[in-house]
Amino acid sequence: MQFQIASIKGDGIGPEIVGEAQKVLKKVGEKFHHDFQFTEILMGGASIDVYGMPLTDETIETAKHSDAVLMGSIGGDTTTSPWYQLEPKLRPEAGLLRLRKELNLFANLRPAVLYEVLADACPLKKEIAEQGFDMMIMRELTGGLYFGERRTIEENGIKKAIDTLTYDENEIRRIAVKGFEIAMKRKKKVTSVDKANVLDSSRLWRSVVADVAKDYPEVQLENMLVDNCAMQLVKDPSQFDVILTENMFGDILSDEASMVTGSIGMLASASLNDTKFGLYEPSHGSAPDIAGKNLANPIATILSAAMMLRYSFDLDQEADAIEKAVKDVLDEGFRTGDIMSEGSKQVGTKEMGSLITERI
Ligand code: IPM
Ligand code: MG
Repeated sequence: MQFQIASIKGDGIGPEIVGEAQKVLKKVGEKFHHDFQFTEILMGGASIDVYGMPLTDETIETAKHSDAVLMGSIGGDTTTSPWYQLEPKLRPEAGLLRLRKELNLFANLRPAVLYEVLADACPLKKEIAEQGFDMMIMRELTGGLYFGERRTIEENGIKKAIDTLTYDENEIRRIAVKGFEIAMKRKKKVTSVDKANVLDSSRLWRSVVADVAKDYPEVQLENMLVDNCAMQLVKDPSQFDVILTENMFGDILSDEASMVTGSIGMLASASLNDTKFGLYEPSHGSAPDIAGKNLANPIATILSAAMMLRYSFDLDQEADAIEKAVKDVLDEGFRTGDIMSEGSKQVGTKEMGSLITERI
């Protein structure tokens, strides 16, 4: 079968890691007789450098007409990069937010898994790490504070900034349904995270989620306040299966969860809409400090490509093949610098990509 993939290499380490993921996909194509066609599109800093803006209308159209988007990472050093001298709506991140909105990618899936062979990298106490964990953070991605009205004004000589947090019940329902659907394929537990002791948007969130839960009697629903959740993630991460939460809380908790795994260079993500279409990217950022040095870990992007095969193309066997190849390479002791430990063999970005490709 033929699949059209719009590919956003982006900034920093983005081009290197996407290059390796494309290499792996090419091999999957050869082995399983698929034709993966890549169209390179620009977003973030790379687009600013060429077009003076982080995302153009043509780029959005190209993305919309593809079967899925595979992305590296965008953005630069916020204190030194000239991109951050521009007004906020012209900075690299504005491109990503607009793309999420234009493609209606409301469901963001961020798995945080403790890999057994990398358990030493987990910063938690040994007795906690030993329990292991495997959770899926489901973050609402096109609403809330990120997309509410915002402005900065001056009242009686005093500057004032306003951001608004809005959710309607439909926005909450559609992400909740996705969350319960995914829980059905996992350990059948949903922890819905909110700040219902303070915020109206959270109280609505909680009641809509409770309503959706009625359609999934096999799934255990638990409500948790966001501050408690931040604490529980370091205290006992094994209690979580699916964490369902709004945009801003999900941004913060997913970074925390990924750090707790000790191997953020391994974590993939998917952003989905109502159809099979999705955008796939690693959970980590563009790491400008190590860009172009063959040091970055390409595994998160390679595993994002596997998620793309699974969720957008229904190619489960092919996705399994990628995940197994990654596992084999780790079992054989190969590591990039970020997950290096004594006795392992350190390799660069390209070598890691080739090792995984060879094992497909
Ligand atoms: C993320 C990032 C983005 C976000 C930034 C780059 C706008 O932190 O994908 O988590 O806050 O959503
Ligand atoms: Mg973030």
